[in-house]
Amino acid sequence: MYIGIDLGTSSMKLLLMGDNGEVIRSVTKEYPISFPHAGWSEQNPSDWKDAMFAGISELCEGCKKEVQGISFGGQMHGLVILDADDNVIRPAILWNDNRTVRENDYLNNVIGREKLSEYTANISFTGFTAPKLLWVYENEPENFAKISKIMLPKDYLCYILTGVHSTDYSDASGMLLLNVKDRCWSKEMLDICHIKGEQLPKLFESFEAVGKMKPEIAALLGLDENVTVAAGAGDNAAAAVGTGTVGNGGCNISLGTSGTVFIASDTFGVDKNNALHSFAHADGGYHLMGCMLSAASCNKWWTEEILKTSDYKEEQAAINRLGDNGVYFLPYLMGERSPLNDPFARGTFIGMTMDTTRADMYQAVLEGVAFALRQSVDVAKSLGITVTSSKLCGGGAKSRLWRTILANVLGITLEIPACEEGPSYGAAILAAVATGRFDNVKEAADSLVKVSEKVVPDKELTAKYDEKYATFLKIYPEIKNVFKILA
Ligand code: XUL
Repeated sequence: MYIGIDLGTSSMKLLLMGDNGEVIRSVTKEYPISFPHAGWSEQNPSDWKDAMFAGISELCEGCKKEVQGISFGGQMHGLVILDADDNVIRPAILWNDNRTVRENDYLNNVIGREKLSEYTANISFTGFTAPKLLWVYENEPENFAKISKIMLPKDYLCYILTGVHSTDYSDASGMLLLNVKDRCWSKEMLDICHIKGEQLPKLFESFEAVGKMKPEIAALLGLDENVTVAAGAGDNAAAAVGTGTVGNGGCNISLGTSGTVFIASDTFGVDKNNALHSFAHADGGYHLMGCMLSAASCNKWWTEEILKTSDYKEEQAAINRLGDNGVYFLPYLMGERSPLNDPFARGTFIGMTMDTTRADMYQAVLEGVAFALRQSVDVAKSLGITVTSSKLCGGGAKSRLWRTILANVLGITLEIPACEEGPSYGAAILAAVATGRFDNVKEAADSLVKVSEKVVPDKELTAKYDEKYATFLKIYPEIKNVFKILA
């Protein structure tokens, strides 16, 4: 059996996979997220550790000695810093934190996008790790001086289990410190961020074994000491493995807290405008990715925070006029990354009239996220990439209504994998590869991942959504200066 751990933003999902890919059990553990200032977003790595320990015990109850491998998919870009005694120096600064507006401007405009793209294949975004390091350097010099190791969220969990400071190429790609093409740290970026190579973790392929579990940790968890711990991947690359988006040309869309469009490739490539990220994939190849910062979180915000209900089904049941809604929603509750790169953007409703209903507003939220995802798909198409179908995963993918909206807004068939737990299932697959159960990630995914359902777009509805999308595209450019005033 293999354990896959998805270190998500709102919770950790742990999944136990059998030798033939069957999901034996899964467990979810929640932890808090704090927003200490507007636009800031932090978590305590010790909460992740507690969730992992409690989660593994519950997950493996009754079969602890059968576990052979364990691996991770983790929220990307988060900055975790350890001192010389491996103590966490400050709370982790997360992927959706926008405090680094100044540092981000410095990187993109003073160092320059061209140079960044030459060094790393990417430009800077406020959520990436390098601008966070510069922020700590500028604002918390006493903390910066203490840094002995810099790691990403899931790598902290791997360190707790193995004692090894490791990371993998897919997750490291989002630090803006990695030369993605050559799969090594960028000397230039280390200098720009005032850090040394020894402060960075050792690089692994996602499917490589970092080591075995520390004996005392194995004893504490009741697991065998010989359990192989594989490096794992950033959550999107892990999700792509979990949905079988490996090799060349496949697309996976994730409707999680963030919304991502992930296009796998055998070969390295860069979008010349850097609107899509160019990252390493967990199968040893590469991928292009667009990431919107608030996807399923818009749904959660509207339903739970505004409507004050958690009955998503009932709220969605009232939506029955697809393609016929005069209300639009810009889903920029945490600013926006792809393709706008605008930390000042904000959530916006527009187009309400006296007859607008609660259902219209909710429909606009779901449609707004779908339109924003289409923007990333359109960037991919403009690069000559053909996207005629995509896998779909993430919490939001559980809603039939949202799947239908998305398939019709994108005008493509969406394939729903039998196991919808993208990152944790992908992580379990990576663990299986690391133990030698499969020769490589493609072979593992081809033999384990099955599609259970297809959502096919309807011609008429797609045509209606084409028109709506054209209107949606006009809204942000008209009001983007207002967002600056609001900020
Ligand atoms: C990807 C990104 C998000 C996080 C969410 O670039 O920032 O998808 O990984 O967990």
